[in-house]
Amino acid sequence: MKKNFYITTPIYYVNGEPHIGATYTDVACDVMARFKRLDGYDVKFVTGTDEHGLKVKQAAEKKGIDAQSFTDIVSKNFMNLSEKMNISNDDFIRTTQTRHKKAAQALWNKLLENGEIYLDSYSGWYAVRDEAYYSEDELEKSEDGKMIAPSGAECEWVEEESYFFKLSKWQDKLLELYESHPEFIAPNSRRNEVISFVKGGLNDLSISRTTFDWGVAVPENDKHIMYVWIDALTNYLTAIGYPDTKCDEFKKYWPADLHMVGKDILRFHAVYWPAFLMAADIEPPKRIFAHGWWTSEGQKMSKSLGNVISPDVLIDKYGVDGSRYFMLREVPFGNDGDFSHQQAISRINGELSNGLGNLAQRTLSMIFKNLDGIYPEIDELTVEDKKLLNSAGEDLLNFVRKEIEQQRFHKALEQIWKIIGEANAYIDEQAPWNLKKTDTVRMGVVLYVISDTVRRLAIILSPFMPDSMNKMLNQLKVPENERSFEFIENMIKSGVKIEKPIGIFPRIEPDKEKAA
Ligand code: MSP
Repeated sequence: MKKNFYITTPIYYVNGEPHIGATYTDVACDVMARFKRLDGYDVKFVTGTDEHGLKVKQAAEKKGIDAQSFTDIVSKNFMNLSEKMNISNDDFIRTTQTRHKKAAQALWNKLLENGEIYLDSYSGWYAVRDEAYYSEDELEKSEDGKMIAPSGAECEWVEEESYFFKLSKWQDKLLELYESHPEFIAPNSRRNEVISFVKGGLNDLSISRTTFDWGVAVPENDKHIMYVWIDALTNYLTAIGYPDTKCDEFKKYWPADLHMVGKDILRFHAVYWPAFLMAADIEPPKRIFAHGWWTSEGQKMSKSLGNVISPDVLIDKYGVDGSRYFMLREVPFGNDGDFSHQQAISRINGELSNGLGNLAQRTLSMIFKNLDGIYPEIDELTVEDKKLLNSAGEDLLNFVRKEIEQQRFHKALEQIWKIIGEANAYIDEQAPWNLKKTDTVRMGVVLYVISDTVRRLAIILSPFMPDSMNKMLNQLKVPENERSFEFIENMIKSGVKIEKPIGIFPRIEPDKEKAA
């Protein structure tokens, strides 16, 4: 049976420049998507931009351009960033696209037909920054009398005619879903938060606005536009052909295997979204994973503090793969993390340049200099040789696969670096530079064993650092069609000639960084 895998990032608001959150989620999803592809899955990986709502409309007004032209420009910036970060998404959804409006209206009609929507009026608090409604007991009054949401966003009082979704009636069904599918919300601490929120009782949800018009029109009443969250969440269906639930893509990929989100938007994904879906007779997704937030040198990133770490800065300082590696290695995925430049430099220099880069570089250099660049014929492998090769083969792959399934990227990388440590210990013990004088046959075997270990590691690491690992596999002369997991235990071919190796991970000079 064909193995399918559907993974999504949130779609990003286009009210400003791309932020580190977009890069972080994109990279995590990209690693999963690439890993699954190498593991033989048919993957659909979708990202995109969330272009409606008051927040985006106000940002356009501030710039003095119409909302559509504004979103065209900003959405392109997000698209370019994905490309720059080497994100392998199969589609990029924009909520202003016709296909999406059609899907959002179809979902609305289905909810209406099923009796899940009614017209009434809303009066209550709304935070434009979060595009979220809050009940009064969730808010705090600031010194100057403003009502502030738990996220820190300022709320305004809203009173208008509104359609409502009967969220309250889904409370028990949602609790049943969380109970019967414990893997539905991860990590577990977040799952508990959601369960207690739902147990606390759910109010019906206002799902349309009348005081501005930047949104998808409500089909039967164009005085109303849809609440930006019902519009946005539907993107996960748009991308696979909804409303055509009979089409191949929909049948193949729904329910989604994983919606990756930040912790601040878990409630929308783990409460509202499955309720909308169940109410429209559509199966809920299989899993929602909420990751943590990055702070910068110990503080929340904010424009006024001037400590925002933009994706462009990351790429300039650490390169695409250095940034990808650091973000997933530094912080247990799911926790909040602090971005420290010193830490980034220390990991990139210590783990990438010295740990992995050096291992490859010194091995290939020795082959190039002492064996005319040709992998030797191998007669016999010692126990130590086999031990190292085995530890970097199926065993490591199985370990990493299990961790990736659970989104424990840092654990996967930690284990891979344990094996890199073993390979470095092996080369030091075997000392091929001494064997050069005493036993060139054994020297060849040792260099061959390390080369093949590096090949195995590079294949397993390629979802994390696709470009660098491709370069490494090119230098090792591994054929392009032998870089997926089914070839993990293949051996490098004797007689193949390599070229003069070039270092893959240049060291980052801390002084240069300080001066920057
Ligand atoms: N448009 C909504 C999502 C709709 S999905 C149907 C939205 N957009 S957003 O642009 O504000 O945020 C997108 C993601 O970026 C969220 O998952 C959020 O958690 C993440 N991050 C924004 N800043 C972040 C950090 N400083 N650190 C990590 N992620 C953060 O919400």
